[in-house]
Amino acid sequence: MQSTVVSSWNDFDPLRHAIVGRADFTCIPPSEPATEAKVPEDSDMRGMWGPRPLATVERANAQLDNLVNLLKSRGVRVDRPEPIQWNQAVITPDFTTGSMFGCMPPRDVLLTVGKEILSAPMSFRCRYWEFLAYHTLMQRYFDEDPGFRWEQAPRPRLADDSYQAGYFDEITIEERLKRTAALDFVTTEHEPLFDAADILRIGKDLFCQHGLTTNRRGMEWLQRHFPDHRVHSVNFPGDPYPIHIDATFVPLRPGLIMNNPNRKLPDEQREIFKANDWEIVDAAQPSNDAPPPLCYSSVWLSMNVLILDHKTVIVEESEHQQAEQLDGLGFEVLPLAFRDAYPFGGGLHCATADVLREGTCDDYFSQQVAAHESEHI
Ligand code: GLY
Repeated sequence: MQSTVVSSWNDFDPLRHAIVGRADFTCIPPSEPATEAKVPEDSDMRGMWGPRPLATVERANAQLDNLVNLLKSRGVRVDRPEPIQWNQAVITPDFTTGSMFGCMPPRDVLLTVGKEILSAPMSFRCRYWEFLAYHTLMQRYFDEDPGFRWEQAPRPRLADDSYQAGYFDEITIEERLKRTAALDFVTTEHEPLFDAADILRIGKDLFCQHGLTTNRRGMEWLQRHFPDHRVHSVNFPGDPYPIHIDATFVPLRPGLIMNNPNRKLPDEQREIFKANDWEIVDAAQPSNDAPPPLCYSSVWLSMNVLILDHKTVIVEESEHQQAEQLDGLGFEVLPLAFRDAYPFGGGLHCATADVLREGTCDDYFSQQVAAHESEHI
């Protein structure tokens, strides 16, 4: 058996071992307080729920398999989760919901910080058991790497007091934008909540998106759990559905980040990047006018790229403008068809989780700045 080493401190050092998700049995979960806030009023997903059609699952799995083959051809070892029959109710003492979701996006659930892989609490009820799809892999890494820290954040209760009742009921997009810019989100501060994909790892600093799926208490928990790191809260006015940071703020290599031009990091939160000579560039416009059918995500999956090392990046093949920008920034761009996988939980970054990247825990932000919303928690 191949021996495992778990270690990853960021999203850009050379990738050696990753987990790539699977689309099997994925469901559109029934409405619940958190998904009500996430699914746009005019989305074709409103009112839909149940298992996704088999033909779409097969197409998504074919593209996920192509991602696996591309990674392997670049010397990256790949593991896959074990899908559960997701079309089962979730019943706890605190809530019941009609089905689970899936395991196409391991990035949403698994946060790798150095030698630790932490399963996030997850703030959607339908995602309560999703970590189980990775249990066999975690057990294997635990047996093969004596330094591996297999961790689980506190299981949330996700009872009604974890959500604001009626949040976003029949309000305009402008009102949504006002609420999110004012840091008024569907999740309350009742208990620590975060999804792993809200956390951007840049060495010693963890930047957490405060939004629909991650609250301040979740960040406080992360700061206590990772006492040698600096945890920062960031937010991105302009996003009516702020969930997961990786179609909004994407580091490309040390010193360079791309930011969604419709969801700009506020000036005062840019200070820490400026003070440490990091450049923030606007991401290119998406090349597609709309996401594929029955997709939770926006057209900005264009910037949900997977970086293999400081000079190599995988980009969805129809995203010509994003590819051109990255080429201009000095990257070798590897195009890959992936839009059939988008409805199952996101883009190329979402569909993967790091097990091993070369490199160490570098201190890229040794100049810390005065406290504000992006303060060190
Ligand atoms: N938050 C993912 C998106 O932009 O769709």
